[in-house]
Amino acid sequence: MKVYIDGSFFDDSEAKISIFNYGFLYGYGVYEYIRIYNGRIFRLKEHLERLLYSARTISLIIKIEQSEIEKAIIQTLTINKLINGYIKLIVTIKGDNRLQYNQLKYEYDTTSIIIIAIDTSVCLYTQSLYINGINVITLPLKNVRHDSLDFHIKSINYLNNMLYKMEAIQHNVHDSILLNSEGYIIGCSSSNIFIIKNGIMYTPSIVEGCFDGITRETVIELSRNKLNLIVKETRINIYNLYNADECFITGTIIELIPVVKVNFKYILSGKPGPITIKLMREFKNLVMSTGTPIEL
Ligand code: PDD
Repeated sequence: MKVYIDGSFFDDSEAKISIFNYGFLYGYGVYEYIRIYNGRIFRLKEHLERLLYSARTISLIIKIEQSEIEKAIIQTLTINKLINGYIKLIVTIKGDNRLQYNQLKYEYDTTSIIIIAIDTSVCLYTQSLYINGINVITLPLKNVRHDSLDFHIKSINYLNNMLYKMEAIQHNVHDSILLNSEGYIIGCSSSNIFIIKNGIMYTPSIVEGCFDGITRETVIELSRNKLNLIVKETRINIYNLYNADECFITGTIIELIPVVKVNFKYILSGKPGPITIKLMREFKNLVMSTGTPIEL
């Protein structure tokens, strides 16, 4: 695979950044994962917009036009002949040996743009988990207060998320569901969550502290427009989760995956529900037929 770094391509074994890079030194930077299906980039504009919002919020000035970033993404896909897979787009600060912490500035414009192409064989969960569902535990989230670092920033510092995922693995389950300081569910360590009860779909509202996922938005649209479901963005607690008929989580990389066990208790029958299965199908149809086309 060839990696894009600031206008040049390098073999992945040769792709390097400086030890003075601010991403490396301070975890300072923003990123997006973007999915490519069937030679089309899914929701490209939405991802780039979110990248710019995150960057602006942390005073990272992206001097390159959005259209130039788009071009760089397409070049990366073309050079790697990648028609199914995803890219990780990272924007951080180059830094040099004069840019030390005590000389930090308010704003940075020496951005470094890195694009890593990844094929779908490196996917997160096995096919059998998409058929049979995953197991999760609930954990109290320690960092989401409305006066803390804004959870909408897609920061390359993924420490918190990693720790929740690692705790799940330690408990021999696939992921953790995080609860905000009031005990309401906000999502998994790197995905959004949905439950279905009596034919109505519920998902945590953004104000509870859940991440404004692009897959979440897509699933809400599909549920309303294709499945004619009522979707409520609301508060969900553990009681609602235990007593749901169906549950699934969403994200760019994992797409939609059913959740069948929470805190070692089965959700209803312990099998992926019919609405979840229908939505997974609708999602597949949508991603295969829409998006920004690339020509190889
Ligand atoms: N996950 N919630 C969190 C905390 C996330 O980090 C992500 C992104 C999501 C889903 O958002 P989207 O549908 O836009 O991907 C929800 C990505 C893929 C990640 O692992 O970085």
